[in-house]
Amino acid sequence: MKILYRPLAIGSLSLDGNLFLAPVAGYTDRAFRAICTEQGADFSFTELVSAESVIRSGAKPGDGSVVDRLLRKAEGERHYAIQLFGADPERMGMAAALLGSWGPSAIDINAGCPVPKVNKLGAGAALMKDPERLGQTVEAVVKAAGAYLGKIPVSIKLRLGWDSCSINYMECARAAVAAGAAMVSLHGRTRAQLYGGRADWDAIGELASQIPVPVTGSGDLYTPRDAENMLSSTGCAAVMFARGLMGNPFIFKTAKSYLTTGSFTPPSMEERIRTGLRQLELLAKDTGEKHACFEMRKHFCAYTKGFPGGAALRDRLVHGDSIARYREIFREAGLGI
Ligand SMILES: Cc1cc2nc3c(=O)[nH]c(=O)nc-3n(C[C@H](O)[C@H](O)[C@H](O)COP(=O)(O)O)c2cc1C
Repeated sequence: MKILYRPLAIGSLSLDGNLFLAPVAGYTDRAFRAICTEQGADFSFTELVSAESVIRSGAKPGDGSVVDRLLRKAEGERHYAIQLFGADPERMGMAAALLGSWGPSAIDINAGCPVPKVNKLGAGAALMKDPERLGQTVEAVVKAAGAYLGKIPVSIKLRLGWDSCSINYMECARAAVAAGAAMVSLHGRTRAQLYGGRADWDAIGELASQIPVPVTGSGDLYTPRDAENMLSSTGCAAVMFARGLMGNPFIFKTAKSYLTTGSFTPPSMEERIRTGLRQLELLAKDTGEKHACFEMRKHFCAYTKGFPGGAALRDRLVHGDSIARYREIFREAGLGI
């Protein structure tokens, strides 16, 4: 039987396992990544960060600025990649060169974001419309990583292509690898699909069989069984959880258990609440209590999905405005811990 949970090397970077936390803007901040690390994430990505904001902000590690908060390693995180987006190869290289003092283990290039504001600039998924510029972008970032960041690996995250008439992930992946990319992640949807429809796992398998660097699969990973199915059916080196993480950072522990022993224990309601409250406290340290409480509304709704009486509970959770109030809401619901 093939061992599906296994160590992995991305260029010079050695990871203990192949269960990754995907970049998810608005979700995978430091607090959530710290929680996922506790649950066993082997590698994680920051939310996408604009190369221009890195260059223009003059942010420094620990200055508490918005850019610093986006770039910083999470508590306990061993290995993480900073994900950059931008349209101009030279500016991407310049931004990458500034990242050394945050100590990332890798730099990832976003070539999948479907947001019009980003695409209009020629960045995100729009980069795939121009494989030559995509290759130049990887080359510039690899050069910067070589010169300023101790030769850390550079990876890229692709979609299938812009739309169903322009599927070109293979061409883009080859251009990226030729330019020095040490890993390619593939979200099995086109930009036109956004997040709808089913992700095409066959494309992930095709890519994994054709390029000489590890391929990380993305799309429709919600359960430990999904991770097993993607790893076994596509032959990809790693999988990255995205929407499946919402309210379920436990997926790292449960998937690892399932892949290594064939069974897993789902988290109890108490564990979910305790974890959510810990996330809230970590986030409050980063962004202040008020902002953290606001941000945690969506997370608490996700953590309590499937609870008996969950709808009534969520009606109250979306009004949580202090850590004490959140604790009180859970106590009043008989879920005090
Ligand atoms: C709200 C949201 C934000 C996302 N932000 C990013 C991002 O910043 N960078 C990126 O490369 N992908 C981003 N993604 C894409 C995910 O990393 C992942 O590839 C995609 O959701 C497919 O996986 P899933 O079907 O398991 O959710 C985002 C997805 C969602 C739903």
